[in-house]
Amino acid sequence: MVKGNFSDEDDDDKALSRLSELGELIRFHNDLYHGQGVPEILDSDFDLLWRELLDLEKKYPHLADPNSPSATVGGRKNTPFAEVKHHVPMQSLDNAFDKDQLSSWTDKVQRRLETEQKISAWTCELKFDGLAVSIRYEKGQLVQAATRGDGFIGEDVTENVLTISDVPKILGKEAPEVLEVRGEVYLGIEAFNALNHSRASLNEPSFANPRNTAAGSLRQKDSKVTASRNLSFWAYQIGATWLKSLGFPINEHAKKFTDFKEVVSYIENIENMRHDLDYEIDGVVIKVDDLVLQKQLGTTARAPRWAIAYKLPPEERTTRLIDIEVSIGPGGQATPFAKLEPVFVGGSTVGTATLHNADQVKEKDVRPGDLVVVRKAGDVIPEVLRPVISERPANTRPWEFPTSCPACKEQLERTEGEAATFCNNYECPRQIRGRIEHFVSRGAMDIEGFGEQRVDLFVSEGLINDVSDIFRIDFERISEMEGFGELSVTNLKNAIEEARSMDLGRLLFGLRIPHVGTTVAQLISENFQDLEVLKKVQMQDLEVIDGLGPKIAMSVFEWFTNERNVDLISRLQHLGVNPKSESLLLDDQDKTLLGMTIVVTGRLQGLSREEARKIIKERGGKSPGSVSAKTTYLLAGEGGGSKLEQAEKFDVPVIDETAFENLIKNGNLPK
Ligand code: IVH
Repeated sequence: MVKGNFSDEDDDDKALSRLSELGELIRFHNDLYHGQGVPEILDSDFDLLWRELLDLEKKYPHLADPNSPSATVGGRKNTPFAEVKHHVPMQSLDNAFDKDQLSSWTDKVQRRLETEQKISAWTCELKFDGLAVSIRYEKGQLVQAATRGDGFIGEDVTENVLTISDVPKILGKEAPEVLEVRGEVYLGIEAFNALNHSRASLNEPSFANPRNTAAGSLRQKDSKVTASRNLSFWAYQIGATWLKSLGFPINEHAKKFTDFKEVVSYIENIENMRHDLDYEIDGVVIKVDDLVLQKQLGTTARAPRWAIAYKLPPEERTTRLIDIEVSIGPGGQATPFAKLEPVFVGGSTVGTATLHNADQVKEKDVRPGDLVVVRKAGDVIPEVLRPVISERPANTRPWEFPTSCPACKEQLERTEGEAATFCNNYECPRQIRGRIEHFVSRGAMDIEGFGEQRVDLFVSEGLINDVSDIFRIDFERISEMEGFGELSVTNLKNAIEEARSMDLGRLLFGLRIPHVGTTVAQLISENFQDLEVLKKVQMQDLEVIDGLGPKIAMSVFEWFTNERNVDLISRLQHLGVNPKSESLLLDDQDKTLLGMTIVVTGRLQGLSREEARKIIKERGGKSPGSVSAKTTYLLAGEGGGSKLEQAEKFDVPVIDETAFENLIKNGNLPK
């Protein structure tokens, strides 16, 4: 997650390219998260992308893309669902984060009711952490269900809501002619754990947390999938007692109070028992309990004035710290982390938590065997806050940072005054693996069929020791290994073959040159064209590159003057790795694929997958690595595999090379 380094006035080009990169990344991860429910990056990293995008758009308003994710929040573009206009907009709620904010809200509400009317009652409800839906009944029959969307227009998810057993499909005789009920669709914690359990046994990736899983499950094209997810529903809008008599599930913790002091103790009570619930909540909703007063108070553009959400602080839980271990990153950094008895906190089950560095462990004095307090504030990495000293077992000892690397046994080193400890052994197996994993990853060389498990296997079998070995890997030995059929060996062979002519920017990023992220790698690639020139790079060649700060220039220069790295580059060249710079400049007239997302799979005849992706991008389209509901076409060659299944699941048309050529030329498919 590398940030752009834009300091000058005349760096619009770079800002533009980073903006489009960020837009693409956000859309890609957003889709994995919401569309498919299998996020690939941490939420905190996703937030960083968002923040960077918003900052850049603020700084360069003239460059903002009208199709930027920031302009299409709510994600209702390109969805496979029909639009539903809400007759009454689905609003949000204002928040109070402490008791003072809550009481100034009540004062404000009271002041606004200019007459002598006193608010005589408040209702308090739990704030369920799921997703809001509006369900419409006509003559007592469920006719439509919609998501919130942007508040005005949502998505038609009727078929899927019909699969939720909590939702009544037919109301009693007393049902009015038309009724719209609003409430929260959610996934219970037990149902969430059971779902992940069964996914694990099928070798499917597990879901991150109940809320996103609920959202992903409700937005399935195939309602059978939704039905299999055991979603639940709480109704919360339109007079509660009435709702209950109509057959809606009303949460048993909803209470009405006449004295505001009772509201405060209700909140405290909920704060203490939230862990005992089988569903997640992130606050308490306090509403003025009088429809006439509600009407009088009205709403702002965003939220009703008669209700407020009291947000509960991030969750903390205690669990047993089994042990403290040290992980070695691809650059050799040794990071201590806690192995915990799994605990459900902040929306997911946590089994490990970072302890950052040696000083942090010392300062917190957490010891193996301790009961510790764990926090997952919103969506950040779980952390161990402190030990519960009163519960400390008799025989614990302060933890000592190991003196040698757990992977290679070499001495660990820490520079005076620095927080980090390092394993400086370039040959450390953990570092070797880390370097190779990064090199083959989707953001870098994108070698399909080269996942972490395979990297581990190939390294431990002695098949590869550095990234150049990938290009002379012994396929005969691989084909004798368990789990490698003829097809998977061929696919791997093809993917590696393709990587030989990969874009130079991707190769540079893949080499983990310090301070060189995707943007800088691309920048260098545009300025140097090929490896041969880069091998002889001088400091002054780098200094003149617009947008490349002195620190980065120095880092690149040092990397290319290090003998070990020069050797590696020569080895790569000898093995036929000959990357070329990809020109990012687009010709406006050729943007025939603008707005399209075309995923490429299988073996194509006339061009490589990488070439096809390049063509798509050059013509203004996008070509992510996986199929989703937002994919326009799947371009499939021979042996497309799982992507074809995905295309079928999401109803994505599959096209062949001939159709693709037509598409490039005319921007549409042959009739
Ligand atoms: S009342 C005008 N009651 O919170 C909106 N909302 O942050 C009136 N929510 O979009 C909403 N539990 O999805 C209400 N007991 C509850 C709720 C609740 C969860 C959600 C709802 C809303 C969001 C606002």
